Amino acid sequence: AGAAGAPTPQLRHEINRVGVVGTGTMASGIVEVFAKAGYDVTFVGRADDKVAGVVAAITKSLDKAVSRGKLDEDGRAGVLGRLTGSTERTALADADIIVEAIAEDLDIKLALFADLDRIAKPGAILATTTSSLSINACAAATARPKDVIGMHFFNPAAVMKLVEVVTADDTSVEVDETVRALCFATGKHPVSCGDRAGFIVNALLFPYLNDAIKLDEAGDATRADIDDALKATGLPMGPFQLLDVVGNDVSLAIQQSLVETFGHAGWQPAPTLVQLVAEGKLGRKTGEGFHTY
Ligand code: 3HC
Repeated sequence: AGAAGAPTPQLRHEINRVGVVGTGTMASGIVEVFAKAGYDVTFVGRADDKVAGVVAAITKSLDKAVSRGKLDEDGRAGVLGRLTGSTERTALADADIIVEAIAEDLDIKLALFADLDRIAKPGAILATTTSSLSINACAAATARPKDVIGMHFFNPAAVMKLVEVVTADDTSVEVDETVRALCFATGKHPVSCGDRAGFIVNALLFPYLNDAIKLDEAGDATRADIDDALKATGLPMGPFQLLDVVGNDVSLAIQQSLVETFGHAGWQPAPTLVQLVAEGKLGRKTGEGFHTY
């Protein structure tokens, strides 16, 4: 079911093949989500080793599920058999929906959307997983803004249920309904939001994470104790553990977009966040961030 009292959304477009652009943490998790739900998935990366990296990451995740008795060998083979990796965007031509999860850089996204507009078949849904850029801007890079929508997954995408479904000014009601139905079909929990900086969750979560960094900078409590305290309130992770999962580059981009939009002086990115990004200490993905792995 949808939000309380709301009718259950229906798939108003037939979805058989899903396209994913990107090979990073989010893209890999999203490929895994769709393939596990039974969809054929074509994913596109910039180089063969990056494409192979996605297959390796999903294989590792499936092996873990098999070892925990949550998946059998046939299920594992089925998921891997539904994956098609490519280094050519033209491989996305027969996808019914294309979800992009590439770099959080507006110029790169706009060039991609212009490309997808040329490549995607008529009626294909074009979704972005951006967490800090405008869906309207992505839509304006195409001649089919009614088919463009935001699908904001959370990290780790294979585990987190929430997807913020973000409609831009021209997104059609059919596309919105289909994407929400697709979320349910993949075991996700869609929540609707308009195209505003941070959507719902990040607008509330990142000022808190930024404040945790400032608390550490003030020197009255250690990172370990701050993490311990928040975990003990029942959160799954403390703020520094979560920052390292999200990636400091992503966190900095989100915090900057919140400051630019809402202008709260107190939301300026904490100096340590800026410094860690400059040093390439991005979190778990680089082996060091607020903690060392
Ligand atoms: N892929 C697939 N499965 C995974 C996984 C991954 N990357 N990571 C964990 N899992 C599975 C495990 O296999 C396990 O499954 P099981 O219990 O059914 O066998 C289950 O998830 C729990 O994992 P673990 O036991 O290893 O560890 P935890 O219980 O500590 O859970 C966690 C890990 C789910 C990451 C949990 O710590 C958590 O929920 N953390 C908070 C994450 C969060 O808040 N994310 C949102 C960040 S904001 C964001 O993403 C927005 C963006 O715009 C930046």
